Amino acid sequence: MLSSIKEKYINRNAKIGVIGLGYVGLPLVMEFSKAGFQVTGIDVNETRVNELNKGNNYIQDVDDDALRTAVSSGTFSATTDFSVIKDLDAVSICVPTPLNKLKDPDVSYIISVMDEIVKVKHHELLIVLESTTYPGTTRDLILPRLEENGYIVGETVFLCFSPERIDPGNPVYGTHNTPKVLGGVTENCVALGKLLYEQIIESIVPVSSPEAAEMVKLLENTFRSINIGLANEVAIMCEKLGIDVWEVIDAAATKPFGYMKFTPGPGLGGHCIPIDPHYLAWKMKTLDYKARFIELAGEINTNMPNHVIELISQGLNREKKSLNGSNVLIIGVAYKPDIDDVRESPALDVIRLLESSGSKVAFYDPYVPSIQWNGTVVKSLVSLKNIAEYDAVAILTNHGSIDFAYIKENAKLIIDTRNVYTAHKDKKIIRLGVG
Ligand SMILES: NC(=O)c1ccc[n+]([C@@H]2O[C@H](COP(=O)([O-])OP(=O)(O)OC[C@H]3O[C@@H](n4cnc5c(N)ncnc54)[C@H](O)[C@@H]3O)[C@@H](O)[C@H]2O)c1
Repeated sequence: MLSSIKEKYINRNAKIGVIGLGYVGLPLVMEFSKAGFQVTGIDVNETRVNELNKGNNYIQDVDDDALRTAVSSGTFSATTDFSVIKDLDAVSICVPTPLNKLKDPDVSYIISVMDEIVKVKHHELLIVLESTTYPGTTRDLILPRLEENGYIVGETVFLCFSPERIDPGNPVYGTHNTPKVLGGVTENCVALGKLLYEQIIESIVPVSSPEAAEMVKLLENTFRSINIGLANEVAIMCEKLGIDVWEVIDAAATKPFGYMKFTPGPGLGGHCIPIDPHYLAWKMKTLDYKARFIELAGEINTNMPNHVIELISQGLNREKKSLNGSNVLIIGVAYKPDIDDVRESPALDVIRLLESSGSKVAFYDPYVPSIQWNGTVVKSLVSLKNIAEYDAVAILTNHGSIDFAYIKENAKLIIDTRNVYTAHKDKKIIRLGVG
């Protein structure tokens, strides 16, 4: 059986399913489709499924033409019907893994997908979980569900964990050329997982277990969270010391070994860095161990929006104005440059804090036409022509297409959290990490 499955992968005759068609799932669909596989996308969101079947793309990293071609040539179709799994050879699970209100992992999406998979009673299936999760999820949560339903993992069904490392908006590294870590429950599992993914990804990095693969992802993102936390704390120290943190960081980054550049900012955003470390901290709590680095970095990073408010307040104060009653314009609400994703964006915290201090807030983001705010849709300004009317302008995201020279020329007061105005001494510009 194993050799016939392998042949299907190599000949690209295997039928692939991708479950969850978002930032992770849709680019994966496109890689499988580009490699010549027949791909079925499964998602609970009917609107997304309908749009995809019309060839309409909603993920910035996916090429519109490539998607249209995949749909019109019949190599890709989407559905909300999980029963199609009976005709598939492999499924990759890319559903959300958020935190619940208590900041504990919410793995309900993974569980509901597994309930659908076992319902289909289709054996000879490779299942690869790609959603970020705590170490032990694949073995403790998924494996028993399969075994209880009569599947023999490693013989009739194959189970792996392979974390997705996609960096939305990265022009150099995408799904295809980012090495992919993969751990299987048995040797057969890892061998099949590796072989399938080798058809679409340049380099596969097998590890000895799903737990190791789960931990790799959490190490990577915890590393980022902690180092960003350090950069944020050094920025605050530099403000107090009267030193330019950006100059310090750039100079430190000239060291060719033993240093990696991280920069401060208004806080953490996106679906990964603010969330993933909590998965690890939660798991460690169940083992009666406190993940101290994670907690400290979380504390520093989540306080950055408050620090931005302090900087805005200082600037207004100089003009004998207060937050209460001032008009504040936010430049950029996406969590990082040149993307349209506002999930967990610190800009949303800054807006909330400003509004609770009585400021009137507007935003401008060429990538984000609108945001949901207190149950209503708030639209981005379409231009900056009235920028001089705002008491303060806070730059939170430095999208490449924004005319920062125009902002500098016309705004009354600027709070620059992204080092847009490097080394600038203009009194109307307050730079984070400079004071
Ligand atoms: N976005 C990133 O940059 C990134 C990077 C690496 C890893 N991840 C991880 O990948 C996973 C997916 O993240 P994403 O950013 O693609 O999320 P997303 O919200 O963009 O997409 C998830 C999709 O899953 C669908 N879905 C929800 N429940 C489902 C169900 N029960 N069955 C089928 N589909 C369902 C949603 O409708 C949505 O289309 C998460 O675990 C995330 O932590 C994300």
